[in-house]
Amino acid sequence: MNIIKSDYILTIDDEFRIIKNGAVAYEKKIIEISSSFQELKQKYPQAEITECEKDSVLMPGFVNAHIHLEFSKNRTTLEYGDFLPWLYSVIEKREELIDGCSSECYEETIEEMLEFGITSFGAISSYGFDMNSCAKAKQKVVFFNEVIGSNPAAIDGFFTDFKARVNSSEELKSETFFPAVAIHSAYSVHPVLVRHVLKIARENRYRVSTHFMESKAEREWLDRSQGEFKQFFKDFLKIEKASSDPISFLGLFESLEPIFVHAVYANEEELAIIEKQKAHIVHCPVSNRLLGSRPLNLENIKSKEIPFLIATDGLSSNFSTNMFKEMRAALMQQSCLDLHLLSRDLLIAATKNSANALGLNCGSIEEGKDADFAVFKLPNSVENEKNLPLQLILHSNRADSVYILGEKIF
Ligand code: BEZ
Ligand code: FE2
Repeated sequence: MNIIKSDYILTIDDEFRIIKNGAVAYEKKIIEISSSFQELKQKYPQAEITECEKDSVLMPGFVNAHIHLEFSKNRTTLEYGDFLPWLYSVIEKREELIDGCSSECYEETIEEMLEFGITSFGAISSYGFDMNSCAKAKQKVVFFNEVIGSNPAAIDGFFTDFKARVNSSEELKSETFFPAVAIHSAYSVHPVLVRHVLKIARENRYRVSTHFMESKAEREWLDRSQGEFKQFFKDFLKIEKASSDPISFLGLFESLEPIFVHAVYANEEELAIIEKQKAHIVHCPVSNRLLGSRPLNLENIKSKEIPFLIATDGLSSNFSTNMFKEMRAALMQQSCLDLHLLSRDLLIAATKNSANALGLNCGSIEEGKDADFAVFKLPNSVENEKNLPLQLILHSNRADSVYILGEKIF
């Protein structure tokens, strides 16, 4: 048994309780939360005690639900500003970036996420090159084996390769490593291949993620087989028409409670389907800005029963995996939303909503949840706790300590 005491406990429970001078008793899971450190100590006299430094915030570790580790090598290589120029640059530099990033490079990114207080993440893996590093990670990892391929003649080959990766990830399954599947997108995966992959997801109860309506180009291609993707598909794949329409694509995900990444250009009809499917939307504001998307209409998403997540996306479309930087970007971008309410919503998005979407028993400090914590020391105290979410987002970077399944990692 252990007890940890902190000046502020940000529970992220349903009441968004912030407990001052509270303490948490835990083993692998959280056993009890108390506003009285003394009472908890008396109740569990054998417990090992940790007292966090003054002005520390104890909170659930972050859950970064969407990252592409295989592109971790990118810093200044890729073209930003618009989606198609970025995609062309990914294709051109793919080998250089992928070959330039081996286990060491994935593990550096994984380690840095830990330093940022990220205790779980969802890794979108295109090739499986990052699989062993993810299986060895100290964090919990939901490992999304991704399928891509719009060429109908090559479906069998893509599917065989996908199944081999799924089988390898099954062999690595553990208390902290969970195989899952990702469909790259509606424009890049043939609907027949989507069906095959989702059948496997249903049979194995895998979590499912897909990019959806990330760019204006995607909207125009899927609606009318027009726009900037027209030339792209003609040149690279000799394809003249989109093989999916967005409504039938979404329909394929029924009953999977899927994770739709971006949804910046999703329309009302599509959002109604997403809501009905009890699906989740992942918001990646930095990635959206760098790849030339408009800002997500978060006010509209919030008016529906669609839980939203915040994630960093890969270093192919971000300069950092720091969740605080991502939340600050959202705070600046979503300027029509109340600053304090948005700060609370972002912290929920980065913890509880992300854990729920990934099917993990963490993301809040509540009895029975896994003891996955991050501790951040504020520069000074915050008198009015209404200001704590905002001040935490503005002033935190690296965690002072991190715990996963009750074990202190650093
Ligand atoms: C494909 O592999 O078919 C594809 C990849 C990226 C964008 C579009 C299509
Ligand atoms: Fe992505």
